[in-house]
Amino acid sequence: MNKIEHLGIAVRNLEAACARYENLLGKPAYKTETVEREGVRTAFFAAGPNKIELLEPTDENSAIAKFLEKKGEGLHHVAYAVDNIAAELERLRQAGYRVLNENPKKGADNKWVAFVHPKDANGVLTELCQERD
Ligand code: CO
Repeated sequence: MNKIEHLGIAVRNLEAACARYENLLGKPAYKTETVEREGVRTAFFAAGPNKIELLEPTDENSAIAKFLEKKGEGLHHVAYAVDNIAAELERLRQAGYRVLNENPKKGADNKWVAFVHPKDANGVLTELCQERD
């Protein structure tokens, strides 16, 4: 894995959270994007070379809605950039990690993404992401 690509934060209201993060970071989101299939709306902020992804559920059955119900707002996942997501998934599977996606799926911000179960990363949902061409 190359680096932390972004941190994902679950929020109940994207507009309110964006206003807060705009003030916190001193600049507006550089992009917002809805991922229909995942039932989320996202906003991305840059802080120097680092990125923050805010995620708001658009569907009460989405993973983010369930997370908010159980844990409330807060850090939802840590995402790592990889060069070859399929190879990394296979490597982790071989090593006994529970991979939540059989195959990488299309995520926000022009990425292929896949997740590793939080129980296999000491309580932190872990995302692998690779730039889509
Ligand atoms: Co993410």
